[in-house]
Amino acid sequence: MTESTWSFETKQIHAGQQPDPATGARALPIYQTTSYVFDSAEQAANRFALAELGPIYTRITNPTQGAVEDRIAALEGGVGGLLVASGQAAETFAILNIAEAGDHVVASPSLYGGTYNLLRHTLPKYGITTTFVTDPDDPQAWRDAVQPNTKLFFAETIPNPKQDVLDIETVSGIAHENGVPLVVDNTVATPYLIRPLEHGADIVVHSATKYLGGHGTSIAGAIVDGGRFDWSADPEKYPNYNTPDPSYNGLVYKDLGAPAFILKARVQLLRDIGAAVSPFNAFLIGQGIETLSLRMERHVANAQRVAEFLEQEDQVTKVGYAGLPSSPWHERARHYAPKGAGAVLTFELAGGYEAGIAFVDALELHSNVANIGDVRSLVIHPASTTHSQLDEAALAAAGVSPGLVRLAVGLEHIDDILADLQTGLRAAAAVSQAAAAVGGE
Ligand SMILES: Cc1ncc(COP(=O)(O)O)c(C=O)c1O
Repeated sequence: MTESTWSFETKQIHAGQQPDPATGARALPIYQTTSYVFDSAEQAANRFALAELGPIYTRITNPTQGAVEDRIAALEGGVGGLLVASGQAAETFAILNIAEAGDHVVASPSLYGGTYNLLRHTLPKYGITTTFVTDPDDPQAWRDAVQPNTKLFFAETIPNPKQDVLDIETVSGIAHENGVPLVVDNTVATPYLIRPLEHGADIVVHSATKYLGGHGTSIAGAIVDGGRFDWSADPEKYPNYNTPDPSYNGLVYKDLGAPAFILKARVQLLRDIGAAVSPFNAFLIGQGIETLSLRMERHVANAQRVAEFLEQEDQVTKVGYAGLPSSPWHERARHYAPKGAGAVLTFELAGGYEAGIAFVDALELHSNVANIGDVRSLVIHPASTTHSQLDEAALAAAGVSPGLVRLAVGLEHIDDILADLQTGLRAAAAVSQAAAAVGGE
C-alpha cells in the first residue's frame, strides 16, 4: 500500500509526514528556526542553484510547513503545495504566478469580498485587470469575457456567502478552449467535499484559516498545483514560464515539468514577496487537517439541519444553502459535493435591518465574528458589518439584503444550536412586531 492509494481519512493523518528523522518524534515537530546549517560550501551552492532540494531559509522552505504542504496537495490530488501567510496571500500569489502587468483575468463576481477587492481595486494598480462575468451560471458569459490578454479564470467552488456552486467542468472546459487555466478557491468546500482538480480545475487555493485549520486559531493560506496545465503550449502567452528567469541563473520554469507552477510560486514569488507562514501556524493547520473529514461530516450534518429548520420559520423569507432542494444550485451541489454543501449559509429575515441586528445580538452560543470555519458556531449581519460600506445598488448586486444573516454552523450539539437560533428568532420577531405596531399607529 502506498500513499497514493490511501483513502482520504488516512491521507489526512499520514500524507507528507514520517516520524522525525532526527528524534523519531511521532507528531509533527515545529521547526521553529529561521535557517539551516549546510554540510559544506558545495551543498550550500547546490541548494541555491536548485541542483539539490533542501532547506535554506524559512521564508522559502521549512520542514513543518513542508509536511503540511504535501498533505494538502495529497488531499486535493495535486503535484505540489505551498503554504503562505494567509488566504489573501494565496490568492495573490496564485494570480501573480500567472498574470503580469498588461494581462487580464476573467472572474466570477461571486467571491469573498477580500478577493473581489484584490481583483477589482488592487491588482489594476499593478496592471492586471479583471472582467467579472455577469452571470457565472451562463457559459456564454465566460466566453464573452475572454480577451487576447486573458491569462486565467478565477472562481470559488462554493462561493462565500452566496452558495451559487460553480459548474467546474463547464467553466474549466471554457478556460481550456481558450488556452488558460482555471484557478479555484476551495475554502468553503475543502477537499473532503469537493476535489476541483478531478473536475478540470488547474490550481486550487485555500484560506487555510478556515476549515483546514478548523479551530479559529491561525491565519494561513494554501495553493495546490494540479500539474496538468501545459505552460509551454503557447510560449508567447506565458513568457514567464518559457523564457529564462534572470533572477535564477536563467532557469526556464517550464523545464521543471509538472510542478513548474508551484515551484515558481515558491522560489520566485515567496522568495521576493515574502508572505511566509510561521512554523507554528503551519503546525496548527496540520493539526487541524488530521480531523478534517470528521469535522466536515458534522459541520455539514448540522448545517443541513439548521437550513431545514430555518426554511420552516415564518419570518425567514429565504434560506441560501445549496443542500436544500429549494436552492437553484442543489443539483449541482449533489454532483460536485455529494457528501454535503458545506456549512456556510445565509437567510433573510422579513423584519429587515433591525431584525437582523436584534437576531445577532440575542444569540448566546453563536459568536458574532467576521470568520467562518471554526468549531464554534459563528454569525454575522453583513449589511451592518462586512458590507456596510456598500450603497443600496451594490448591496443588491452582492445579494446582501438588509435582513440577511450569515451563519457558519459549528460542531456543537444540534439541539443547542437550534435552541440558540430560536432565541434569536424570538428577538427578531419582537422587533418586527414593535415596528409594525408603530407603523400601524
Ligand atoms: C472564501 C475565502 N477565500 C479567501 C479568504 C481570505 O483568507 P484569509 O482571511 O486567510 O486571508 C477568505 C476569508 O474569509 C474566504 O472566506
